[in-house]
Amino acid sequence: MITGNQHAGQKRVALVTGGARGIGFGVARQLARDNFDLAICGVRDPSDAAPALAELRQLGAEALYVQADISDTAARRKLRQAVREKFGRLHVLVNNAGVAPKIRADILEATEESFEWVLKVNLQGPYFLTQQCARWMIEQKKAGPDWRGCVVNISSVSATVASVNRGEYCISKAGVAMATRLWAARLGEFDIPVYEIRPGIIRTDMTGGVQANYDKLIAEGLLVQARWGMAEEVGKAAAMLARGDLSYSTGQVLMVDGGLALQRL
Ligand code: NAI
Repeated sequence: MITGNQHAGQKRVALVTGGARGIGFGVARQLARDNFDLAICGVRDPSDAAPALAELRQLGAEALYVQADISDTAARRKLRQAVREKFGRLHVLVNNAGVAPKIRADILEATEESFEWVLKVNLQGPYFLTQQCARWMIEQKKAGPDWRGCVVNISSVSATVASVNRGEYCISKAGVAMATRLWAARLGEFDIPVYEIRPGIIRTDMTGGVQANYDKLIAEGLLVQARWGMAEEVGKAAAMLARGDLSYSTGQVLMVDGGLALQRL
């Protein structure tokens, strides 16, 4: 098995969780265009991911789909193992997979069950997947200093903007913000940058159910750029980081939010 570095002509490999649809697919597509091979995972059946895989292959990437729930310890291990068996190398981890609460409930009413589920998927999953991948990345870096990679966390404007009808989501994303800082601090000695992207209102399946709400808020002036964001706009931001264009900026937060978090008077 190849444990370490890129052999001549080999592409760099990125693992994008939740990479078969929405923002994750936007990221995976852009990385394929930027000459990465791709591993993507999701909870859906492989047959559902087949069109996404076909598109990534059409863009020139070798592409692997692993059905794995990132909130599950054994599944995370299986995921890393599958990437290792297929590619023998990993350069970029994009922690994108995430969920919104099934019911948007006022924090005076919301349940512990929803809190635990959202925190497990959105925070515990990526935190420990980063731990696993970081160990492998360090191993590769030690095997050959030419190896270079990074971790990109997709959090949300909800890391700082309070929505009282989905407190568990906001707390999970605030946790991802701290996880970014922690991993950036820990992986600095290996020159492995860790970044956070905070998207605003992006048109995907996740926001499909609340489209009318957001249309109204956008029309009322919520954003500086008065339109929905697109998955490929987050994809381009992630690809810039994965390529290494901001290689001396570990721990940075990149807003992709049309100015949602820009305070105005
Ligand atoms: P989506 O619902 O369209 O896609 C989510 C993807 O994650 C799917 O591929 C799904 O299979 C995967 N996934 C869900 N739970 C999983 C689990 N337990 N294990 C493995 N994979 C799992 O969502 P969308 O909108 O593309 O969101 C992607 C990320 O971006 C999420 O972390 C979300 O919180 C974040 N985000 C989305 C915004 C939006 O407006 N759509 C805004 C800000 C952040």
